[in-house]
Amino acid sequence: MKKITVFYGSTTGNTGSAAKAIAAALGDGAEARDVSGADANAFSEPDVLVLGTSTWGVGDLQDDWVGALDALKGARLAGKKVAVFGLGDQNGFGDSFVDGMRDLYDAAIAAGGTVVGACATDGYEFSESRAVVDGQFVGLVLDDDNQAGQTDARIAAWVTQLKQELGMS
Ligand SMILES: Cc1cc2nc3c(=O)[nH]c(=O)nc-3n(C[C@H](O)[C@H](O)[C@H](O)COP(=O)(O)O)c2cc1C
Repeated sequence: MKKITVFYGSTTGNTGSAAKAIAAALGDGAEARDVSGADANAFSEPDVLVLGTSTWGVGDLQDDWVGALDALKGARLAGKKVAVFGLGDQNGFGDSFVDGMRDLYDAAIAAGGTVVGACATDGYEFSESRAVVDGQFVGLVLDDDNQAGQTDARIAAWVTQLKQELGMS
């Protein structure tokens, strides 16, 4: 069985709640872990990594990830699948919507990982986001500030997609 870890950084708890729901939906022993204090070994250990962050300041990675990003870049992710998700506020921060997720995506690629789980931007209203690559979000986007009612369904649909891309279904 593949070991799957959902690493998250969360200031007010939204990303943490999403991480736990994603881990539960993935099943197969997947676990959610607060990224605080994670070193390169912690990131190198799982077979599959799911990385989640909220965005703070204007387009900044959540604080706990700021300390862990270099460790992620230095992890051994060659041959591993990685998926990313981000929490943001499209009404309040439509010019930097879920930007922090892009930093996780870039770090995962720098560490040799293969990123899966890209999503369409349909259903969100924003003007700019660094998390859009080739017209798609690089991962799952959740907006608990404005669209909390859609979070559960978005997680369920994404986990179904991930299981297919990871060969779990
Ligand atoms: C001061 C402040 C700055 C924020 N900056 C951004 C931002 O640049 N882009 C964005 O999409 N969301 C931004 N947000 C929204 C948060 O990312 C959002 O509320 C998120 O759900 C928080 O998740 P957490 O509780 O897991 O940290 C900001 C929120 C606050 C209060």
